[in-house]
Amino acid sequence: MQLWIPFAAAAGTLLGIASFVGADWDAPPVETTQMGYRGTGMNVIKDVDKVEALKALNAVPEPLWEADPEGDRAGEIYENVQVLGDLSDDQFNLFMAAITEWVAPEEGCGYCHNLENLASDEVYTKVVSRRMIQMNQTINVDWEPHVGDVGVTCYTCHRGQAVPAYYWYDDQEPKPASASGRGGQNVVGQFVGKTSMPQNALAEYLLGDKEIRVHSLTALPDPANPNPAGTKETESTWALMMHMSEGLGVNCVTCHNSRAFNDWDQSPPQRVTAWHGIQMTRALNNDYMVGLTPVFPDNRKGPEGDVFKIGCSTCHQGVQKPLYGVSMLQNYVDALDKKGPTAVPDYSKYVPGETQTMAPDGPTNSSALPAKTTVAATQQ
Ligand code: HEC
Ligand code: HEC
Ligand code: HEC
Ligand code: HEC
Repeated sequence: MQLWIPFAAAAGTLLGIASFVGADWDAPPVETTQMGYRGTGMNVIKDVDKVEALKALNAVPEPLWEADPEGDRAGEIYENVQVLGDLSDDQFNLFMAAITEWVAPEEGCGYCHNLENLASDEVYTKVVSRRMIQMNQTINVDWEPHVGDVGVTCYTCHRGQAVPAYYWYDDQEPKPASASGRGGQNVVGQFVGKTSMPQNALAEYLLGDKEIRVHSLTALPDPANPNPAGTKETESTWALMMHMSEGLGVNCVTCHNSRAFNDWDQSPPQRVTAWHGIQMTRALNNDYMVGLTPVFPDNRKGPEGDVFKIGCSTCHQGVQKPLYGVSMLQNYVDALDKKGPTAVPDYSKYVPGETQTMAPDGPTNSSALPAKTTVAATQQ
């Protein structure tokens, strides 16, 4: 009688195994990178199939040609070249061809220019681009602690699109944001890793400079040195951390030893790079993006009327080093790895569609530009 029990158990086990294997329940192939010492569990685990897809998305375009640095300077040849005046004519042409491919490959030169009058600043995208060139130079020259020698080009963020795939803005939906004590959270926060954390946390840290660190350094409350952070602050920090992890396609242990999130000595070096990244992103938003608000049309602003802003994902796009660390800069060193003039025009005086020059002394209109200026505006 009892003799069949082991057989039944063995058959049951085999069936169980078969149902797992047969139902394709085997784990996907994964790639593991060890971040910290053995035994600390600091491993970043990635799905190999997804990594392959990301690699295809992050291939770098070939340079169009190698520009001759000799010859007359663009500033002497053209009328209204304010930032890139030191380039040779060939370098300038290469750069115009390259930004067309990086930002507006379908639309061509006309995306930023009135083709009848290339010197006029009447198309808003040209005014934005000039500021973007200054921003790009600042990133490569002043923010080396973050971007290293790899640096960035317009392609790092734009990838062949006028508006980069990843940005953030003031998100008050669903309204009213403070309804029934929701306090701007407890919805699927689109900029905070789809969590229910405070949905506008990025504004606190990547525009404002709120303290990110929340840890208490003593086991018991220390009246002499109270920790100002409560649960709310902690949630906001977490929201930022979710954005950073998602933006880079990594998990927390890429930058932390999870037994002591606060301790820099136990953190991988990536955390220091990330610290510089936070300072850089905040500066780019304040010094460049916000100032362009009067230039952008309404359809290029968020529902609350603010410009689209830069986050970690704007450059990283789900990859730990943007474009897998391949540098595109060497072909554009003179355009993007040196600082040209840094002065800014008064953008509140910008009139879309009117033949004009946006210069640091304020806009000059038609009379300052030569005969060709009668051409009608092509774009608002
Ligand atoms: C993404 C925007 C953008 C695109 C696309 C673009 N340009 Fe430009 N272009 C600019 C900006 C910005 C300047 C001014 C640069 C400066 O002030 O340093 C400029 C200036 C010029 C000038 C100098 C005009 C003058 O007399 O002052 C020429 C010529 C020019 N571009 C040609 C082209 C050509 C040809 C193409 C297409 C292959 C093109 N551009 C595509 C943004 C663009
Ligand atoms: C760090 C990321 C980043 C880099 C680098 C960058 N951009 Fe941008 N750019 C943005 C963001 C974000 C916007 C969207 C702003 C908005 O629409 O409110 C934008 C908008 C623009 C627009 C307006 C497009 C439109 O249709 O409204 C143009 C043109 C542009 N960038 C050109 C350039 C050029 C040229 C370069 C390189 C010199 C460059 N950008 C580099 C982030 C970047
Ligand atoms: C790309 C690197 C990076 C990733 C990924 C990351 N963090 Fe951070 N984290 C930082 C940096 C940098 C700081 C410190 C910021 C500062 O000092 O201004 C920080 C601070 C913190 C703090 C506050 C520490 C203190 O001293 O109070 C906590 C908590 C934290 N992170 C949790 C997390 C969690 C949870 C995750 C995963 C969801 C995560 N972090 C992912 C870089 C990272
Ligand atoms: C303007 C584009 C840009 C933005 C915005 C940006 N990064 Fe980076 N980041 C880079 C580049 C380029 C590198 C590669 C540098 C290198 O290889 O030396 C990098 C490298 C890093 C690294 C080092 C990765 C490694 O394994 O060594 C970390 C961590 C990082 N970024 C975190 C962040 C965080 C967090 C943010 C947002 C707060 C951010 N970055 C925003 C361009 C950017």
